[in-house]
Amino acid sequence: MKVIIDTDPGLDDAVAILYALNEPRFDVQAITTVAGNIGLDRTTDNALRLASVMAASVPVARGAARPLAGAGLSEEAIHGADGLGGVQLPDPLAEAAPDAVALLAERLMAEPEGSLTILALAPLTNLAQLRRQHPEAFLRLKGIIAMGGNIHEIGNAGPHAEFNLAADPLAADEVFASDVPVTLIPLDVTRKFRASPADLVELRDSGAPAAVTSAALIEAYFTGSARESRPLHDPCVMLLALDPALFGCDAMHLRVDTVEHPGRLIPDETRPAIQVAMRIEAEAVKAMLWKGLSR
Ligand code: BDR
Ligand code: CA
Repeated sequence: MKVIIDTDPGLDDAVAILYALNEPRFDVQAITTVAGNIGLDRTTDNALRLASVMAASVPVARGAARPLAGAGLSEEAIHGADGLGGVQLPDPLAEAAPDAVALLAERLMAEPEGSLTILALAPLTNLAQLRRQHPEAFLRLKGIIAMGGNIHEIGNAGPHAEFNLAADPLAADEVFASDVPVTLIPLDVTRKFRASPADLVELRDSGAPAAVTSAALIEAYFTGSARESRPLHDPCVMLLALDPALFGCDAMHLRVDTVEHPGRLIPDETRPAIQVAMRIEAEAVKAMLWKGLSR
């Protein structure tokens, strides 16, 4: 499966990236970064360092430093001042390319139409810019699988909205209104996919770089939290891409509130249907993630 990962690492992004780079069924053609959990310089440096953990020569390209409109959000309280909870990663092996949107357009025009999927783990600014600046390239996408939104669940960026949509609601609205097939994985599913400290023993014992680093990253997720388990939001995107049968999706017509409660999803029958994951076989999905990290 040919993919490009669009991301703001971010602890859960980092685990998702390590999994993808360690998974032979993925051909990761690039990683594009965006401001989100933390600023763009950090998310880009973190993406380069994650490639370095895996000795992967995947291109990393800098994307948007701010949302299409407004000031943006960050999540330092959860992901730490460095975005990775203080987990030390090896130095980058390469420099980032300067323009994520240009790289996305170039890859899409070079690959056969309908062969590239975006695994979107962050605010959707880069993808909305791709649609605005290179609509012919954008329409060549096979699809976009994105972590974001909340249907029945309370939000995590205020009560109404989820972080990735709240951080750039206009971008999300433009992407969901497009003709490219979108699968959205909201908090309703990702909050059911959780890791506890006891789960980390198996990862550490495997000795595999992706697993040992992921155990440290997930452990950092517990810093300052009294919770017994933490949700692994972004890895759900990779796992649904490879095994959609472990998730149950419903078609929904949605727009994104950009005014009253930015990032809130609102039913709107005038919009194209997107697939929204509402069910997950969490134990089977966790076994798949742990196995993929540990090889
Ligand atoms: C999403 O927001 C970010 O903090 C996480 O990395 C994830 O992409 C969860 O709402
Ligand atoms: Ca993320």
